[in-house]
Amino acid sequence: MDFNLKTTASGLKTKADVFVLPAHETPTLPSIVDEIDKSLNGQIKKRQKSKRLRLKNAQINGFIATDKASWGDVILAGCTKGSSQRDWIAFAKAVFAALKQVKASSVVIDVTQVESTLSEALLLQLLTKTFVETSYQYDTTLSDKKEKLALKKVHLIVSSNNSANKKAVELGQSMGVGANLAKQLGNLPGNICTPSFLAKEAQGLAKTYQKLSTEVLTETQLKKLKMGSLLSVTEGTTEPAKVIVMKYKGDKASQKPVVLVGKGVTFDSGGISLKPGARMDEMKFDMCGAASVFGTMKAVAELDLKVNLIGVVGAVENMPAGNATKPGDVVTSLSGTTTGVLNTDAEGRLVLCDLLTYVERFKPKAVVDIATLTGACVVALGHHTSAVYSNDDDFKMALKKAGDAVYDRAWPMPLWDEYDEQLKSEFADMGNIGGPDGGSVTAACFLSRFTKSYTWAHLDIAGSAWQKKKASGRPVSLLTQYVIDQL
Ligand code: BES
Ligand code: MN
Ligand code: ZN
Repeated sequence: MDFNLKTTASGLKTKADVFVLPAHETPTLPSIVDEIDKSLNGQIKKRQKSKRLRLKNAQINGFIATDKASWGDVILAGCTKGSSQRDWIAFAKAVFAALKQVKASSVVIDVTQVESTLSEALLLQLLTKTFVETSYQYDTTLSDKKEKLALKKVHLIVSSNNSANKKAVELGQSMGVGANLAKQLGNLPGNICTPSFLAKEAQGLAKTYQKLSTEVLTETQLKKLKMGSLLSVTEGTTEPAKVIVMKYKGDKASQKPVVLVGKGVTFDSGGISLKPGARMDEMKFDMCGAASVFGTMKAVAELDLKVNLIGVVGAVENMPAGNATKPGDVVTSLSGTTTGVLNTDAEGRLVLCDLLTYVERFKPKAVVDIATLTGACVVALGHHTSAVYSNDDDFKMALKKAGDAVYDRAWPMPLWDEYDEQLKSEFADMGNIGGPDGGSVTAACFLSRFTKSYTWAHLDIAGSAWQKKKASGRPVSLLTQYVIDQL
């Protein structure tokens, strides 16, 4: 899909299959539409008068234009006046669906007709991102492949073809492409998307982008490093664990990197603390944190941003077996502390804590870990928002702000000592669970014990990363926006 910015004069003359006019309750129609309306026997005006043009947001009303116009169909698409990103995204989705239905290969969308307090740049960014994201469909493991999208050219009429608007389109496209990569990795089944598969994917990114390099650490190397906590999770599986390090060098070596750390449990059976059978298939999504790291690396590399960004992924499968880690076992982390594994299903934190110690070597400007960490987070916040924790309130709010800007929201949560105390253990420095109460918070407190030496945040995306058995591609947009905010 190609996006082009046009001014009104040239946009109205551009030949395309469909012309989309965002319509408010009483749309003021551009004069060219008045012209078409004549050839439509005044249908548009008539509907406008009889208030039938008072379209609800995202409601579609179509006309067939005549050969007098540059377009085949004219679509009036209901568009609320205002500032709601949610309404605007719903509008974009409805327009996209209508274009798909008529199999349009080209379209002109008149963004100047939108009355919103959102900037034109933001409207463009959200629209492009929504179009790119909505064009994603999963069919990798289906015999019946989905029909290829006909839409190739999207012409956007804007009030000014300035650099802010151009940049916004690029941003939207790259975030969309990044989010789609995250969705695809998340949706792939656990027998395909294994730790080795993720390692290959990372090597593929390094081949595609000159500024990106990938290093894969094998179990032998992880043992040498003494990542005892991470390795305890992989005992019961035959799939070799991998730690994947992706480095994007867009700035001088002297500039400290932002580091992203992703939970990449490619399937979480719970281990010996086996999960119940119902909906266990959803635990293929337990690598969505890792997927968002891949997606963000891709988006940042696409944008060729002048930043240094490192992505670290702990790719492991959590399975029960005769040699699997057992409840009560005590493991020693890379940092030297001991953890009592009271529940082998609280494995994400065991993987992440070693990575969080490992990344100290990069002298990071800031570290964000991203993980489908707790069912408790889904109970607390549902699928609509990520939870954000941090040892630095400004950092926490910066991430929230980045998420708000691109409608990929995160909600701030506490890291108080009262919660941390729930991790006390009789037989180790800490237990890996904090009891039944406040599960998302105690998991974050566990991680915070390994992040004292740098600015750190944790995103629990157990709910936001997927919904109704589909990966959402979140929080790629939030993370990419945060990186952009650093420029
Ligand atoms: N991967 C799960 C968390 C999860 C649950 C993600 C539902 C997405 C949807 C995690 O490894 C886990 O099993 N956590 C346990 C922790 C408990 C044993 C303290 C949980 O949430 O039940
Ligand atoms: Mn688990
Ligand atoms: Zn898990």
